[in-house]
Amino acid sequence: MYRLHGSLLRLLCCCSTSLLRRLSRIGSYHILIGSNVGSSLAVKLYLSLKNICGRGVGDGFLSKCHCDLKAPIQSSNSLGSVRWLQVQSSDQDLRSQLAELIPEQQERLKKLKTDHAKTQLGSITVDMVIGGMRGMTGLLWETSLLDPEEGIRFRGLSIPECQNLLPAAHPGGEPLPEGLLWLLLTGKVPSKEQVDALSKELHIRSTVPDHVYRAIDSLPLSAHPMTQFTTGVMALQVQSEFQKAYENGLSKAKFWEPTYEDSLNLIAQLPLVASYIYRRLYKNGQVIPADNSLDYGANFSRMLGFDDPKMQELMRLYVTIHRTDFANFVIEILLQIFFYSDHEGGNVSAHTAHLVASALSDPYLSFGAALNGLAGPLHGLANQEVLLWIKSVVDECGENITAEQLKEYVWKTLKSGKVVPGYGHGVLRKTDPRYTCQREFALKHLPDDPLFQLVSKLYEVVPPILTELGKVKNPWPNVDAHSGVLLNHFGLTEARYFTVLFGVSRSIGICSQLIWDRALGLPLERPKSVTMDWLENHCKKAAA
Ligand SMILES: CC(C)(COP(=O)(O)OP(=O)(O)OC[C@H]1O[C@@H](n2cnc3c(N)ncnc32)[C@H](O)[C@@H]1OP(=O)(O)O)[C@@H](O)C(=O)NCCC(=O)NCCS
Repeated sequence: MYRLHGSLLRLLCCCSTSLLRRLSRIGSYHILIGSNVGSSLAVKLYLSLKNICGRGVGDGFLSKCHCDLKAPIQSSNSLGSVRWLQVQSSDQDLRSQLAELIPEQQERLKKLKTDHAKTQLGSITVDMVIGGMRGMTGLLWETSLLDPEEGIRFRGLSIPECQNLLPAAHPGGEPLPEGLLWLLLTGKVPSKEQVDALSKELHIRSTVPDHVYRAIDSLPLSAHPMTQFTTGVMALQVQSEFQKAYENGLSKAKFWEPTYEDSLNLIAQLPLVASYIYRRLYKNGQVIPADNSLDYGANFSRMLGFDDPKMQELMRLYVTIHRTDFANFVIEILLQIFFYSDHEGGNVSAHTAHLVASALSDPYLSFGAALNGLAGPLHGLANQEVLLWIKSVVDECGENITAEQLKEYVWKTLKSGKVVPGYGHGVLRKTDPRYTCQREFALKHLPDDPLFQLVSKLYEVVPPILTELGKVKNPWPNVDAHSGVLLNHFGLTEARYFTVLFGVSRSIGICSQLIWDRALGLPLERPKSVTMDWLENHCKKAAA
């Protein structure tokens, strides 16, 4: 069953009769009416297929359903086997939606434990123990799942599916982060009204106490932006509802409630803290106040300073196509960065948050710990490293570098004992779909940017070299190989700041899962560790 909606539907409406006839031989179709295209277009295609192919609903060839924004539908699977899960209610209160969902998910987990507690999930090898637990299934993480070949799915939806189904600020735009938050928390695609209501709720929650700014100000300007960001998050912690409720003897069944409050407050306040740091470091401390009429992403962009008309004029010199103004480009890129929000549970930042929260540390403490992991060059700092490395290539070889020179530079990097930033991944084994999504954006909007052209050349040069090394499991680019060059193109040039953007985005995935951790009553995390002696003895016994 092929699910037809959004741009695919629009495209098919322009197809010739013969192509439609050919399509009819491939499979059956389910048409979503009204999601991203007008009902009339969807109905037109439905009737065309029915008439041209002489087959219809009766014989299972065609089916249709209404999918207006008030009643969107979520699929759990990729094209080819569509299963409809939930029809969204019109309730605009996220917390009450969640409260409804929690008992059924608690039951589900209980049943899993009762029926399958001892079912094997694989075996553990020595390699896994000394190799950073690669390939070892050991965590429950509900909000997203990473496939080594296909990439990330958020609650079952791929990035293109999210782009099609989640509400955007304007037709064809990137999904709003509020929609992603709703999806991750509830597993349901929200309506625009629900997203707007959540936007308002986040604004209400977004007041940052003064002491937070003072804590950041106490650090020297030379402190890395991630150090300042973590300091800000730790200063926010004093308002933790969870900590207060726990001290007052809250029962375990209610742990998720203050976790929800802390999480939403934290998500709401992070853009203010992050933009404060940006303005403090790079714009002489001139802070731009929030605009509560804007959505989360647009407001963040504004507070960073990217809707200043003068800046727009300046940037129009560079942006030559579509008459789209600079601010909108930056907002779109920031929205794309929200696809960094979640990458299942085993990556350093997500796992750290989950681990720390398993000790019943509140969301601020847990997310602060996650940020410290994100600040590592093999994880979130890689996007900073990529831009700095690309700039070092240009400094040494100029912008019109040949493929041969580039190969030499890559080898020089490797021979000096460094990694090529932006390439490789702990789980993915193909080009990261988030890289592809950003590459498509760049091809459309900045094809002539010299640094983007360098990124494209690297795409050709680096994978064969990493493959030649013989030890790199994934020679393909990850998400960090691209984002910095996009931001740099539109004026956000301060590479050391990039990981902070990543951090704001990641709060959405991490906090969504933390709420579920408490709702499902997940226990303290405590894997067993062993010594080299233990491993050697065990292996000797196993071999005997
Ligand atoms: C992401 C990363 C940490 C994954 O590490 P991993 O799971 O251990 O990856 P692999 O199993 O493929 O590593 C095997 C070997 O190849 C090396 N390798 C992997 N990616 C490499 C790269 N981009 N450049 C050079 N060497 C690399 C590893 O360092 C390791 O070498 P070692 O055995 O001498 O220690 C790694 O690919 C990397 O360092 N990439 C560059 C940093 C980066 O872009 N990080 C962002 C990730 S989203």
